[in-house]
Amino acid sequence: MNTETTPLVIAKSKAEIVILPKMANRHGLIAGATGTGKTVTLRTLAEQFSLIGVPVFMADVKGDLSGLPFPGGENARVRERVRELGFEHFRFQGFPVIFWDVFGEQGHPVRATVSEMGPLLLSRILALNEIQSAVLTLVFKVADDNGLLLLDLKDLRAILQFVGEQAPQLQKAYGNISAASIGAIQRGLLTLEQQGASAFFGEPALNLHDLIQSDGTGRGFINVLAADRLLQSPKLYATFLLWMLAELFEQLPEAGDPEKPKLVFFFDEAHLLFDGASKVLVDKIEQVVRLIRSKGVGVYFITQTPLDLPETVLGQLGNRVQHALRAFTPRDQKTVKAAAETFRASAGLNVAAVITELEVGEALVSVLDIKGAPTKVERAYICPPHSRLTPLTSDERSRVIRESILYGHYEKTVDRESAYEILKERTAKQEKEAAVILSQKQPSADGQAQVGNLIAAAAKSAAHAIGSQVGRQIIRGVLGSLFGGGKKR
Ligand SMILES: Nc1ncnc2c1ncn2[C@@H]1O[C@H](COP(=O)(O)OP(=O)(O)OP(=O)(O)O)[C@@H](O)[C@H]1O
Ligand SMILES: [Mg+2]
Repeated sequence: MNTETTPLVIAKSKAEIVILPKMANRHGLIAGATGTGKTVTLRTLAEQFSLIGVPVFMADVKGDLSGLPFPGGENARVRERVRELGFEHFRFQGFPVIFWDVFGEQGHPVRATVSEMGPLLLSRILALNEIQSAVLTLVFKVADDNGLLLLDLKDLRAILQFVGEQAPQLQKAYGNISAASIGAIQRGLLTLEQQGASAFFGEPALNLHDLIQSDGTGRGFINVLAADRLLQSPKLYATFLLWMLAELFEQLPEAGDPEKPKLVFFFDEAHLLFDGASKVLVDKIEQVVRLIRSKGVGVYFITQTPLDLPETVLGQLGNRVQHALRAFTPRDQKTVKAAAETFRASAGLNVAAVITELEVGEALVSVLDIKGAPTKVERAYICPPHSRLTPLTSDERSRVIRESILYGHYEKTVDRESAYEILKERTAKQEKEAAVILSQKQPSADGQAQVGNLIAAAAKSAAHAIGSQVGRQIIRGVLGSLFGGGKKR
């Protein structure tokens, strides 16, 4: 078994190529065309991290990572690679795995509250334009000011309706709230619900510390998020992972310069993060990636070519594995050339030519040396993984889930009092009052008074909330956050 700071052997050229645990939080990149070995490389890295006690998180976008809990040996190409590379002490083995699933089917349910997600990320999920996004931010502010908790999509729907109805009154305090924008947000919400996202928003929300665990023998847990269905909603997928990164950044303490990372986060299909992202969002992502290092989190992006990532992000990825790229068209050739230029040149190695010749499971590798400088790029074979490549059967998966240390904790949704319930109660009360007023043949209360009533009622609920742990979420507005999202309890 590896000890704490044993270098991670990831590939073999003439000599072994290692990632130094101390440099592993300086991020990384796994790139290459379809079928060139990216997912196997990701698996090898994850296993190595687990062995030195570093937990990892990854999304399983194709369902081909589920075999991780069981020993490999069934794949002929992998066995052959073990022999070719001359790994005498190689032993197939399974790893401690926790399965997660936004839809709660293939793993423990993963949830976030609407409030935690915040208006900026929600705008991205809902595909809002800038004006609509500004209105959504106002809607969050109205909820905050009125002590209305936004936990699930019901809450968001209720507050949108409220703001829509009270727009003329609210405008005095909050500025222009156009009906068209509210309508657009409501339509976006409907689409989101149709994608099955209702399950994702609510409580109990994911406690990120549950991702950062080791098993009894000191191996880090490998957290696998089932993402095949989630990927059908690419914006939700990318934004959800980004939210996790932002939350990790906000919740973890400064780690200085740790001997090894606290957590390694693999971001597969990373191009989705940047597709059509606004400049503001790209800047935020760049900021999260840059800052999260000091929290001891290493981020490894997986994508087809390095050019899928903005330069400001790419420049921060120290440990790189470049699998083969195709060069059929002139455009491909340009990509190959540009990808080659992202490596530190190595005498006698024509990087651009080699990229197109690499076999499956072979790659150009450059890692950070002890001084933090990128090593000269080398052509190397990626070490074969220890676990099973064949995906789990649904029985095997259910067994792993049931035997997990977290089983039972996230399985059941909790629906406590929040915006939806409070606003519903208020409407019911108003209808009753209106009935009384009508029966007395008096003019109905004007909107301003209604808002006043609501604020009084909400103040009561906020006071109650502050007494409990929930209060922290209301203070969100004061503390602010990277994406305008809420604080955890
Ligand atoms: N390092 C390796 N050692 C042995 N076999 C490998 C290695 N890497 C890849 N292979 C073989 O190649 C197959 C395809 O690799 P992999 O699934 O990692 O490709 P990929 O780049 O992730 O493809 P896609 O873009 O379609 O997801 C594997 O199932 C395995 O049989
Ligand atoms: Mg793959």
